[in-house]
Amino acid sequence: MPLMTWQDSYTVHVSEFDAQHKHLIDLLNQLHNAMTKGQASDVLGKILHELVSYTKIHFQAEEHYMKAKGYAGYASHKAEHEKLAGQVMAFQKEFIEGRTSLSAQLLTFLKDWLTKHIVQVDKQYSPN
Ligand code: FEO
Repeated sequence: MPLMTWQDSYTVHVSEFDAQHKHLIDLLNQLHNAMTKGQASDVLGKILHELVSYTKIHFQAEEHYMKAKGYAGYASHKAEHEKLAGQVMAFQKEFIEGRTSLSAQLLTFLKDWLTKHIVQVDKQYSPN
């Protein structure tokens, strides 16, 4: 069973970003699936790397869009992106250095963060 499922209510009415959010959910589910199957840490590390990289790509794309639209909430939204990216990269560094392992708590944190961010923050730049 996937950790997180896309809901129509998550739409931000920008197809590019809905597709990116779906991909982020898919990567999170892949990580969860690999973890529950007890996959080796190199497999987990590879998916984690993809999740972190894609998150950065997604944040940059949203920031570019908000800036181009002259969106008033740009600065606070960008600050929120930087906070999350910092948290996830700090975790990834600890994971690579073998100082921490993936846990259900971390995945729940990512799931809750993603849901909350899409619904409460991303939706505010929605054109609809
Ligand atoms: Fe979809 Fe602001 O991240």
